[in-house]
Amino acid sequence: MGSKDLFQAGSSLFPMGVNSPVRYFRDYPFYVDHARGSRIYDVDGNEYIDYCLAYGPSILGHADPDVVHAVIDQAEKGLIYGAPSESEIRLGDLIRRSSRNIEMMRFANSGTEATMHAIRLARAYTGRNIIVKMEGGFHGAHDYALIKSGSGTLTFGSPSSPGVPEEVARTVVVGRYNDEENIKSIFNQYGNRIAAVITEPIMGNVGVILPDPGFIEFLREITERNGSLLIFDEVITGYRFAFSPYQDIIGIRPDLTTMGKIIGGGMPIGLFGGSSDIMKRVSPSGDVYQSGTFSGNPVTMAAGYAALKKLQGMDYSSIINRTKKLMEGIDEVLTKHRIRHVINGYGTMFQFFFANSAANYDEVMKADRDLYFRIFKALMGHGVYIPPSQFETNFVSFSHSDDDIEKTIEALDASVGEVMG
Ligand SMILES: Cc1ncc(COP(=O)(O)O)c(C=O)c1O
Repeated sequence: MGSKDLFQAGSSLFPMGVNSPVRYFRDYPFYVDHARGSRIYDVDGNEYIDYCLAYGPSILGHADPDVVHAVIDQAEKGLIYGAPSESEIRLGDLIRRSSRNIEMMRFANSGTEATMHAIRLARAYTGRNIIVKMEGGFHGAHDYALIKSGSGTLTFGSPSSPGVPEEVARTVVVGRYNDEENIKSIFNQYGNRIAAVITEPIMGNVGVILPDPGFIEFLREITERNGSLLIFDEVITGYRFAFSPYQDIIGIRPDLTTMGKIIGGGMPIGLFGGSSDIMKRVSPSGDVYQSGTFSGNPVTMAAGYAALKKLQGMDYSSIINRTKKLMEGIDEVLTKHRIRHVINGYGTMFQFFFANSAANYDEVMKADRDLYFRIFKALMGHGVYIPPSQFETNFVSFSHSDDDIEKTIEALDASVGEVMG
């Protein structure tokens, strides 16, 4: 069956044919046959250079042979035990040795779980209820995180989805990333009731927005001064630019860190961790309940360990340089076609916007999404797959070659030519 038929079949099984909303796009998504290295292949016989990379985990490229072998070897010894195994210690130890601020951690199965548990832990540890999150920040699909700005910027948030109780929204205040005055006002109003500020250190779910100089340091300082915890959600940024979380590159210590994606090597994973003082509050050593049938399962642990072991020996500067080359190429093409644009990127992740400026949430929301989508579609016709949504992020993997980058820039030139007609 081709993608169209599969979409029809899938639509009677799953809402809009997909098992996570970002995977749907008009008129219907392609259905994947297989993926290897920098390429993803659909059931219709098309091949794409992939910059979506499963929304982040596949930094080594698809189906990395070392990770695949590790999964097969472990699968033969058992898929899941429901009892601890050495595989957890191997991965946990490697993460602790390469993450300066993680003394203890717990594995979960997704970034969503990781942030949900981190938020509960922060509330329990501080004995406070209020969480501050950033407008446009995404921390997964649980109730504490599906909150957007309320009626005023200093009031509690409102549910961003029906089904999230107003009562939950009344425990979350939505702040503005890169706006120190706004965060100061929130602390002035709620100071000693704030359990934690949770933020992506680099915003990666509204396209890419980089922190203004000093903003992250400011968050560290204001949380510390008010006895609130700082949670860095590094589900995207962990191990993406160096063999460490991003916090170690900038030298800022959060109280809790969440990770996922890359550290599972392509298998479902989440992690929350921090100082042993805080982490010891987690059950059963402490009173904060958290659990998971599949948490720390040996197949994920083996995949994560194989991926991180490999990454440890890789030269990140090679893909950082390739990403830079790609961003420069995109800039040249868009300039040549006289399209006003901004490209935000750091290390191995980037996004482009058709806007005058894209330094904060409001500006990004004003970008021309329709043009982005039309270019996305045209690029597919030229064998390049970028995220379908303006508000996702492009990733470059260790499997992307210089040739891939050149082909992508040529494909963009042709695609923009078609779209602008
Ligand atoms: C920063 C961030 N946190 C949390 C999540 C949720 O992770 P998951 O999809 O594994 O539940 C995501 C997912 O994209 C994310 O980007």
